[in-house]
This record gives sequence, structure tokens and C-alpha cells, in this order.
Amino acid sequence: MTNSASPQAGNADQIEYWNASAGNTWATMSDRLDKMIGPVGKAAMAALAPGQGEKVIDIGCGCGQTTLELARRVGTAGQVIGADISAPMLGVARERAAQAGMEQVKFLEGDAQVFAFETGAVDAVFSRFGVMFFADPVAAFANIRMALAPHGRLAFCCWRAMSDNPIMTLPMAAALPLLPELPPPPDPLAPGPFAFADRDRLAGILSAAGFHDIRITPYDQGLTSGDLDETIDTSMRIGPLGRLLNERPELRESVVGAVRKALVPYQTDTGVYLDSATWIVTARKEPAA
Ligand SMILES: C[S@@+](CC[C@H](N)C(=O)[O-])C[C@H]1O[C@@H](n2cnc3c(N)ncnc32)[C@H](O)[C@@H]1O
Repeated sequence: MTNSASPQAGNADQIEYWNASAGNTWATMSDRLDKMIGPVGKAAMAALAPGQGEKVIDIGCGCGQTTLELARRVGTAGQVIGADISAPMLGVARERAAQAGMEQVKFLEGDAQVFAFETGAVDAVFSRFGVMFFADPVAAFANIRMALAPHGRLAFCCWRAMSDNPIMTLPMAAALPLLPELPPPPDPLAPGPFAFADRDRLAGILSAAGFHDIRITPYDQGLTSGDLDETIDTSMRIGPLGRLLNERPELRESVVGAVRKALVPYQTDTGVYLDSATWIVTARKEPAA
């Protein structure tokens, strides 16, 4: 299947971003990033509780780790569809599925905000950090809701505020004094990792999209992407600092020492752990009977 997004969909910037710098970075770092955000995804999947024989969509499935985990949970009698706009990440996902020999998995390249999913066809929709990038989140969740059967349910995880997430702020705070100019403050409502930080706004979006029984639960967890060198590398390739350095690679050398110094106190025998703050969100298409 291919992208059925209309030119008016408004997600062109994200489609470009996830097919260029971000998509390539995530594709090349997939194992390490799976390790880092895996625990949060597991908490969201526990909230979904996918069962044998169910049909599930994984929105913004990226490199497919959660898609394959969902496939294991639903078994060969079920089906899982991984949907994403990123060709490089879907490339990794397809390779992983082929290696795992899982025939109950398929992937589609499409914008979840507008993709013509089959109406009422799935039992559940899942996402690990893949639903915060919509230009029109109400339209996107209404479209996703349409894909659910009347008994259908939704579960996903997303970031709380950037300021509650040392895993995002600590490397940037270390680098800031060394930057030639301050980066512009992010727009808290713009599509991006922190778009759903505000719980009331998120509840309002899901409610306006038609969802019921909305539950938004804080989840706090120390996360690691590996040892000190791996964590420095991760911090300088993804997140707020990574994004800045991808645009200004000439600044890398001048900030790496400060990032290392800031991360050293968080080293343990099993890796560098930094705190994260996320929401685990569940909702139903219709009110529970
Ligand atoms: C932070 S990554 C998470 C990837 C994956 N879920 C994981 O946990 O590894 C966000 C993902 O959302 C995808 N995405 C962003 N906007 C999307 C949209 N409108 N429709 C489908 N996928 C989208 C990106 O391409 C990317 O793969």
C-alpha cells in the first residue's frame, strides 16, 4: 500500500522530516532506540492487552519493534498493520518482519491523519510515541477511530512536558552555554514529541475525535540507551539537542565534552539512566457497556 495523503493534509513537513534526517537516524539506531523507549512501550502495550486472534493497527510503527510484539500477542489467527510515513523506517520494519517470518504482519506507508483505513475493521489501535506529529490531531484521531470496530480500543504512550524529562533536557542544558546563540523556544502546541504534554488538551482532542472512557495516566521511568559513549551519541543524534546538531553539525565538537560531563553522574553498571515522564493513554470507540 502507498501513501494516500492529500496535498491539503498539512503533514508535509513531518513527511519530509521522517523521510530524511529523523527517519534515517531512527533507522540506523533502531536497536538502541528500541532499548531506550522499550519500557514505556511495554507499559502502553500492557494497557492495550492485545489478545490472540485480534486485528490491531500500530500507528507510527517506525522500525516495527512494537508491530512485531503485537503480532506475537495476536498470534497467527490475528493480524497487525504497521502504518507509518517514513520509508527508511518502514524498510527496517519490513526486514525485521521477514526475518521473524511473521505472516500476520503487514506494513503500509501512509499518513494516519488521512489514510483510508478500512472502516470498523480492527479491534485495537496502538502507538509508541507515533501520534504526536499530526497537523490536525482531532481529524487524525477521528480517522483512526473510524478504523476501529464498535468495541474497539486505543492505547498509546506520549511524552509529558519537555521540562519533566531530564532524558531530553539534560544534554541540551549542558550544551546551551556553549552554543553561539540560543535556539528559539519550541511552540508547545506544534506537532512534535511534546504536543500532548498538556493532559487537558490531550483529553479534549480525543474527546473531540469521538473517543470515550479516556484515561491518561502518568508513567515515570528511568531509561537508558546504553553505556556512557552510547548515551552521548544518542543525546547528540535525537531529542532537542540531536535535532539542533543535525542542523548545525559544526557545533558537535564544542559541546561533546560538556554533554559527557553532565551524563557521568548518571552512569550505573547497566548503563546511563535518565528520568522520563510520559502519559499512558487509553480510550474506547464507544462507551464500555
Ligand atoms: C518517535 S517515532 C516512533 C517510532 C516507533 N513507534 C517506535 O516507538 O520506535 C515517531 C514515528 O511516527 C511516525 N509518524 C509521524 N507522523 C505520522 C503520520 N501522520 N502518520 C503515520 N506515522 C507518522 C514517524 O514516521 C515515526 O516513525
